[in-house]
This record gives sequence, C-alpha cells and structure tokens, in this order.
Amino acid sequence: MWDYSDKVIDHYRNPRNVGKIDNADAIGEAGSLACGDSLKIYLKIKDGIVTDAKFQTFGCGSAVASSSILTEMIIGKTIDEVKKITNKDIADQLGGLPPEKMHCSVMGYEALEDALKNYDDYTDLDDIRNEEEANKQREKIVCTCFGITENVIWDAIKINGLKTVEEITNYTKAGGACGKCKGLIQDIIDTYYKKEGHEKEESTLSPAQKILKINNVIENQISPELRKDGGDITLVDIDGNKVMVKLRGKCSGCKNSHLTLKSFVESTLRETVDKNIEVVEV
Ligand code: FES
Repeated sequence: MWDYSDKVIDHYRNPRNVGKIDNADAIGEAGSLACGDSLKIYLKIKDGIVTDAKFQTFGCGSAVASSSILTEMIIGKTIDEVKKITNKDIADQLGGLPPEKMHCSVMGYEALEDALKNYDDYTDLDDIRNEEEANKQREKIVCTCFGITENVIWDAIKINGLKTVEEITNYTKAGGACGKCKGLIQDIIDTYYKKEGHEKEESTLSPAQKILKINNVIENQISPELRKDGGDITLVDIDGNKVMVKLRGKCSGCKNSHLTLKSFVESTLRETVDKNIEVVEV
C-alpha cells in the first residue's frame, strides 16, 4: 500500500479547477489514453499573468492530485515564474509522492511545458529556434510502449537527479512494460552523467565502513520498523553496492514485499549510507 500525504488525498477527493476553458490562450497535453494516463491543461493568460487554469485528466489519484495542485500553483503567477516550475515542485507541494507515482508529477510538468510552448507570446522567435534546435537532438522515441522520448528522460534525470533505470521507470513509465528499452535508458543515464560532468555521487566510506554502516542501519532503523508490523529483515550478504537481504515474519510472502524492499529498505539505505545501493531479496 502506498503512503499518500494528506494533501494528495485532499486534492484527489476535492480536485480544484477541473474542466475546460473555452477560448483558452494556451492548451497543453501530456500522456495518452492508450498508456493509461493523460492530462490536458487550459490556461487563460492576461498581460503575462496566468489568470485561470483548468484541467481534464484520466488517470490515478496521484494524477488528479498533481494536476489539481498544479493549477493552484500557476494561477496568479507570471509566465516567467510558471516556466520555472518543475515536476519536483509539484511533488513537493503535494508533500511528496510515492516513487512509483512520480510519473504523475512529470505528466503535469510536461502538459504545462506543452501549453507554454503553444502560447504565442511565450518566448521570442530566437528562443523558439534555439529550443527547437536543442529539442531536435533528443526527440527520438526511446520507449515505444509508452511513447517516451529521449528528451523527457533527459529532463527527468536533470530535474530529479535520477540515477537508475528503475527510477526512470517510476518517473516517466519508460521501461515499465516490455522492458526492451532498458538498455537505451541506461545509455542515456551514462551519457548524461558523462556529458554534463555530473558524476554519480560516490560514497566516501571505505568498503569496511560501508558494511558496518549498512549492518547498523538495518539492525537499528529498518528492522525495528518492520517488527512493529510483525515482520523483520536479515542481512545476508553485501557485494559492493548490492545488499542481499531476507524478509522474515509477516514480510516474507507478503504480496507487497517488493514495495517494502524498494520504498522502505532501499530508500532508507540510500539516504543513510550510499545513493547507489541496490537491495535484492534472496
Ligand atoms: S519499449 Fe519501453 S517498456 Fe517496452
């Protein structure tokens, strides 16, 4: 079961600004019905300020909540301010989203970006030409199952500091069906960190220190939390950044064990020990 913030639940149950604006000054779309999520956003703009925004979405509760809060975030803002909004801002405003649902915030960001591109006064012609030129380089569809382009994956990495294929799937859906595009996604991650000079953050701990710290976090932070619900965890082995564990008690055989491993165990170890840790159940 995913953990949703009160704000996500509130915006899902009472979505703001649902609907369509006739004579909208800008309309943007993202996702597609075929892929299970789609969003259309309508903007009314006067003197460079968004005076109204509405949305129509087809998707899960997180998609509704992301679209709803996005409209609240942009009404009353100048175009320049709106241009600076990222998917991370949308998720932050909602008090966070489960990793597997971050693609809903990306959909909001993409629809907004699309609307701004369609707005005549969005930018001057030179900017448009420069942007189109840059976009052409990365327009290629990488994931044919969900129609996700290299550009979308590149932006998701850049804005959210993503480092693994799994994170890309959570944020954009790419790689989440047949999986044939996973190699290409890995290439994009590698190219990004090489080209942009953003080296993946390496742990400053020695291997021995890392093993001790992993042991410590599992024993003193993760295991006590799992025990509260009748489960538990045992560390089996560590190989570099790969941490092999066994889930016990109620956690073993639980149909959500994969989520427990990724959303709780792996994210806790990444936060406390090393951002590149991968947890596998053995
Ligand atoms: S091509 Fe990406 S999941 Fe199938």
